Amino acid sequence: MGKRVAVLPGDGVGPEVTAAAVKVLQVIARRFKHEFHITHGLIGGDAIDQTGKPLPDETVALCEASDAVLLGAVGGPKWEHTPSELRPEKGLLAIRKHFDLFANLRPVKAVPSLLHASPLKEEVAKDVDMLIVRELTGGLYFGEPSRRTENSAVDTLVYTRDEITRIVEKGFELARLRRGKVTSVDKENVLQSSKLWREIVEEKKKAYPDVEVEHMLVDSAAMKIITNPGAFDVMITENMFGDILSDEASVITGSMGVLPSASIRSDGFGLYEPIHGSAPDIAGQGKANPAAAILSVAMMLQYSFGMTKEACVIEEAVNAVFENGFFTADLAGPEDRALSTKEWTNKVIDELDLQSVSDCIMFTYA
Ligand code: IPM
Ligand code: MN
Repeated sequence: MGKRVAVLPGDGVGPEVTAAAVKVLQVIARRFKHEFHITHGLIGGDAIDQTGKPLPDETVALCEASDAVLLGAVGGPKWEHTPSELRPEKGLLAIRKHFDLFANLRPVKAVPSLLHASPLKEEVAKDVDMLIVRELTGGLYFGEPSRRTENSAVDTLVYTRDEITRIVEKGFELARLRRGKVTSVDKENVLQSSKLWREIVEEKKKAYPDVEVEHMLVDSAAMKIITNPGAFDVMITENMFGDILSDEASVITGSMGVLPSASIRSDGFGLYEPIHGSAPDIAGQGKANPAAAILSVAMMLQYSFGMTKEACVIEEAVNAVFENGFFTADLAGPEDRALSTKEWTNKVIDELDLQSVSDCIMFTYA
């Protein structure tokens, strides 16, 4: 069965890590006899330079004609001073909104062979296995009015009942597939939107008696991510809180460079991207860690294409490369030789053929 995949490399290290992920996708196609039709498009600063827009119409049309999208990263110092409508980040926000990708899934799982690089003590970091479910198309990022004058500025935090309901349901559904616990994060002691959020979680939980639910204020959640991150299973939260908390949680595993994400809606279409940014300081040098982009392809196979064993094989291959002691510069210890992006990707490709499907049971992202 043929699947159409749009690849939007974007800026900075985006082209290097998406190229690595596409290679992996091609190996999966060969091994499992799938056909993936891959077409590249422009987004972000690269698109601004070539077309004058961060999300050109041709890119939207390409994604509309695709079954899933793989994105690299957007942004960089070159476009820092362009007017806000012409910032590379606008391209990312516009594509999320255009395709109604309301559910952003950001799994954070400790891998034993990376714990040496965690800023937390090993005994605190080792049990981390959480899934942050971030609302992605509402809240402060999109609320109107949003404007500034010389001496004042306004952003609007607005959520409707429907917007909250669908993300909360998604969180409950995912918790059922995991350890059955939901932590709903809000700022109910201050914000009206959070009061509505909490009310909806209370209503919805009646339909999921098998799921344990706790509410947590966002400041307290930020603290607990450091003191006891292993206590979280599924965390559901609004857009801005999710943005901040997912960066915080991501470093627990040792490097943000290993964390993938999925931005999905209800019909299987999705956009998959590493959670790291464009890292302009190392762009073009072959130093980027492609693990997050490669694991984003695994999430694509799982969520958009229902190819669970293929996804699992990728995850196992990535873990095997880490276990064998191969790291890119972000994770290499003083005694290790840091591998280049391409060298590390080739290690994963070698492992892909070695992993047996029948042993593959530990897929994290379900
Ligand atoms: C992310 C990024 C984006 C966001 C930026 C680049 C607009 O930080 O995907 O988390 O804030 O959502
Ligand atoms: Mn972010």
